[in-house]
Amino acid sequence: MSVLEWRTYNPSGSKRIIVTKELPGDRWLKIFHEVNFRVEVCTSTNILSISEIKSAIADQCDGAIGQLTEKWGEDLFSALAAAGGKAYSNYAVGYNNVDVAAANKHGVAVGNTPGVLTETTTEMTVTLTLAAARRVVEADTFMRAGHYTGWLPSLFLGERLIRKTVGVVGAGRIGSAYARAMVEGFKMDLIYYDLQPNIALEDYIKAYSVFLESRGEQPVSCKRASSVEELLQASNVISLHPVLNETTRHLINVTRLNLMKPNAILINASRGPVIDESALVAHCQKHQEFRVGLDVFEDEPRMHHGLAELKNVVIVPHIASATSWTRQGMATLAASNVAGILRGHPAWQNYDITTFLENSPPNAAPSIVNAEAIGIPLYRN
Ligand code: DGY
Repeated sequence: MSVLEWRTYNPSGSKRIIVTKELPGDRWLKIFHEVNFRVEVCTSTNILSISEIKSAIADQCDGAIGQLTEKWGEDLFSALAAAGGKAYSNYAVGYNNVDVAAANKHGVAVGNTPGVLTETTTEMTVTLTLAAARRVVEADTFMRAGHYTGWLPSLFLGERLIRKTVGVVGAGRIGSAYARAMVEGFKMDLIYYDLQPNIALEDYIKAYSVFLESRGEQPVSCKRASSVEELLQASNVISLHPVLNETTRHLINVTRLNLMKPNAILINASRGPVIDESALVAHCQKHQEFRVGLDVFEDEPRMHHGLAELKNVVIVPHIASATSWTRQGMATLAASNVAGILRGHPAWQNYDITTFLENSPPNAAPSIVNAEAIGIPLYRN
């Protein structure tokens, strides 16, 4: 096992917090400093194992901030609770790496960081869509290799998106922001699939459509699909935004890939296992016109054999939320979750969480996913 280095801030602080990776900015550290907590940050970029995190928790630890690359389950929550810990925050909005039932069993609050990633992740999802549609990476590689010998009528023909149909699977915060960006940006018709209707999104598209008509332009449509299959068959672009759980693992499999148009564009910036990567590689090998943009992979950081060689796939290393503003905001929310719970604050209930980035944040923990399950009072304003 490698020897990990930990940097300690405020060694004589009244409570001990461990943070398994260095986080951007310093606002999050100030949050802990202001309440006189000791903070220990692992300075290694290695993905920590469960036993390395357990050793860091040791005999006394009040709270922790962990990463989506770590499995926070029975092992770690029992260790944290035995060390006196009451609060954990994932440094991510997604928390499929966290066994919330295990945290509930040990009375540990679990936080996440929604609301500060929405636009940033949407921007990357749109970027992947355009890069895949217009073959940007392929063309860039071609250019750098010195293969460009002059303008040609059919050099790197791609897909035109204007007035086509975008399909969004999972119309939560990010899915609906992406839907609006594609509808407003490229006047695409929207079809979405979600277990719940998204009335706010539907109303927004309706209002945009009325605006278009008022300018003498064709309206756009918005439909909630009755099945994933219906959406896949109707869409030119499909973007995946579901949470990862047992019902969405391999949501996109051989059968569903075959339902898509042969020249469809498939984008995934949610979680890798939503796509059966082996089926995807085979499909892309067979259908050169089918294009894909991936921010996430089934077995990160590994890529499925064959994926790297595919010219019709654009791949980036899970960076959809990677802007300084967002990553600093995520750090602020994660620290506010842990500090808020340890100070006995209630759990914030409003959808808008950005007030926690301002100078006088509310006396609440911004996003605790198991507040009701473990009896944390809810914030009332
Ligand atoms: C998340 O927050 O869930 C993203 O995948 C990383 O920012």
